[in-house]
Amino acid sequence: MAEALRSLYVCVVFSLSLMSFALAQGENYFIFHGFSDSNLHLDGVAEIQPSGLLQLTHFDSTIAMAHAFYPFPFRFNTSSSQSLSFSTNFVFAMDDFGHRMAFVISPSMDFSKAVPGGYLGLFNYSNNGLSTNHILAVQLGSVLSPEFYDREYNHVGININSLISNQSASASYFSDEEGIYKDMSLEGTGPIQIWIDYNAAEMLLNVTLAPIKVPKPSKPLLSKPLDPSQILLDSMYVGFSASTDADGSYILGWSFNRTGQAQNLDISKLPPVPKDPSSFLGRILTSIMLACPFIPVIGTGVCVYIDMKKKYEEVYEDWEKEYSPQRISYKQLYTASKGFRDSELIGKGGFGKVYRGVLPSSNKQIAIKKVSHDSKQGMKEFVAEIASMGRLRHRNLVKLCGYCRREGELLLVYDYMPNGSLDKMLYSNTSPKLSWFQRFRIIRGIASGLLYLHGEWEQVVLHRDIKPGNVLLDADLNGKLGDFGLARLHDHGGNPQTTKLVGTFGYMAPELIRTGKATTCTDVYAFGVFMLEVACGKRPIEQRGLPKRGNLVYGVASSWERGSILDASDPQLEGAFAADEMELVLKLGLFCCFGNPAARPSMRQVMQYLDGDVLLPDVPSTSNITSLFTANDETPDDEIPFPSLFGNGSVAAVSSTDSILVVGR
Ligand SMILES: *[C@@H]1O[C@H](CO)[C@@H](O)[C@H](O)[C@H]1NC(C)=O
Ligand SMILES: *[C@@H]1O[C@H](CO)[C@@H](O)[C@H](O)[C@H]1NC(C)=O
Ligand SMILES: *[C@@H]1O[C@H](CO)[C@@H](O)[C@H](O)[C@H]1NC(C)=O
Ligand SMILES: *[C@@H]1O[C@H](CO)[C@@H](O)[C@H](O)[C@H]1NC(C)=O
Ligand SMILES: *[C@@H]1O[C@H](CO)[C@@H](O)[C@H](O)[C@H]1NC(C)=O
Repeated sequence: MAEALRSLYVCVVFSLSLMSFALAQGENYFIFHGFSDSNLHLDGVAEIQPSGLLQLTHFDSTIAMAHAFYPFPFRFNTSSSQSLSFSTNFVFAMDDFGHRMAFVISPSMDFSKAVPGGYLGLFNYSNNGLSTNHILAVQLGSVLSPEFYDREYNHVGININSLISNQSASASYFSDEEGIYKDMSLEGTGPIQIWIDYNAAEMLLNVTLAPIKVPKPSKPLLSKPLDPSQILLDSMYVGFSASTDADGSYILGWSFNRTGQAQNLDISKLPPVPKDPSSFLGRILTSIMLACPFIPVIGTGVCVYIDMKKKYEEVYEDWEKEYSPQRISYKQLYTASKGFRDSELIGKGGFGKVYRGVLPSSNKQIAIKKVSHDSKQGMKEFVAEIASMGRLRHRNLVKLCGYCRREGELLLVYDYMPNGSLDKMLYSNTSPKLSWFQRFRIIRGIASGLLYLHGEWEQVVLHRDIKPGNVLLDADLNGKLGDFGLARLHDHGGNPQTTKLVGTFGYMAPELIRTGKATTCTDVYAFGVFMLEVACGKRPIEQRGLPKRGNLVYGVASSWERGSILDASDPQLEGAFAADEMELVLKLGLFCCFGNPAARPSMRQVMQYLDGDVLLPDVPSTSNITSLFTANDETPDDEIPFPSLFGNGSVAAVSSTDSILVVGR
């Protein structure tokens, strides 16, 4: 009886608190300065920090997505387009490059079938562009539509049901003082305000930006004539979607009004944006502060002592005993890297930060990669894998020396590579340009390292993130492939939504983007892009503003089509290369990028071509070469449009009349 009464009581209190929440927020509007009491519906990597900051994505979330929605739907009367006004403003911040974030009005909060990265966490390959999505979004940050090979870093767009913006512009704001639009950077510059207003009488959707200290400008950045009655449904949710290559994105405050102008935010009430959320010192200070709020001076000593112990604390579980030879203590790594000081930071990427260090015990130079990893799940399998990868030995693979584990963090220790990454070498203006001889040697080296991973070791290891940024150069400028297998960590992670896609856009085969499934063929694709990049000195998707096919693969293919493939070579080489080698690398690179995975060569074949043991097959007609690189989205994967050039595809399934390529000379 008492039990029943208690649960009734709990029930009543619970519904009362829900009601008071709904009432407090009103039916048609809400305003949040920080989100501590917001009850937002979160998924993916989104979380609300103690300060009230809504953190959508965080440093190191790799290709992850996050959603945050107001938990109750709003009623839109779609039978009367006169009543469809709405207005919202919010303050956001993004740490660094590679973000895509959007304000979204959607009939559902379920985006479990959506894909991160270029798909914004809103769409997937099959529903992109469909009017049945009923999604209106304002997107901010980098845009890259994988199919459209177009990337712009500082973009604001209005998107209706589709990845392709219906209207877009580079980020800028109207300065009322100066009477001109001024450029601004969305990423890495601190908090930014944005207003999105739809006025049903004018039938205009306006998007206006401004730096945090500037009042709302009188002129919007985007102003799109729109009748949302076809887009909106009667019941719609409002919220945010974010996806990222790395680094954090945040919302500080948010105001929304379904019937008219949203109230402006009071900037002074917003939570601060963390300077560097992964700063070790920051965390130490916070933990000291949290640990000793009331203890006066005498207590501080004790606290500092406790904190010193905490400082070196590791996570060590029973099952790890067998890997203890590979284990390196955190204290050693901490000393080696001078306390993970910023001056020792040598790299920062999708998987984490990399520090340089010297192991005190052996004076050996090492590189320490810190990977944040919250999920306990899968850690065992992953450690087993890295332990076995520690046994990988190849002159073109960066050697993994050991690991260490801490709460929420994994540290991987590698041999230190004094010349840094190939990426830096290729694009820096200061270091001397790599000669063709050096580049060709790097290409061959990486091919042989990848062949070892794919076929010559006891098990097939997929790399999944081949790109110049993951190729490191030793003292003699030999290329070594780093980070192999690291992608697997995210496979074993707890949240399957955040782990669908691993890799880097531009290097991801079309079928990988579509299905999320990595294979040796998707590694070969990335290697193909890598070869082209090293030969041409161009990033795979850098040419801005070019329509659809302004990417490297198409560029090289169309040079070939015009009969002058060598034109695609890096102009910085000034023609100083062996023409036959250059031609081989460019053509082979293209072959590796075929849209059809079965038509790509295997790494063993790539190696044979590069070594000159086998001649590259001839292509009878180059008139149509660019068509071979489309994802061929209408063709199901099992219907191969032409037989394999390299004999490792399912040739038998294809009729010879489809053939536009033949084997041999
Ligand atoms: C929606 O608008 C129509 C046309 O103006 C009106 O007749 C109807 O009562 C409205 N419905 C609601 C639920 O307000
Ligand atoms: C794409 O998303 C839609 C809507 O969530 C879903 O119904 C569909 O199954 C998804 N398609 C794929 C291929 O995941
Ligand atoms: C917006 O773009 C989508 C996709 O390109 C298109 O179907 C739609 O008609 C456009 N809508 C408007 C209102 O321009
Ligand atoms: C949208 O911008 C236009 C000017 O470009 C302005 O005339 C209109 O009043 C604005 N509407 C809203 C709702 O802000
Ligand atoms: C929402 O808009 C309506 C209509 O303009 C206005 O009366 C109301 O005060 C607004 N509410 C808030 C909280 O801004």
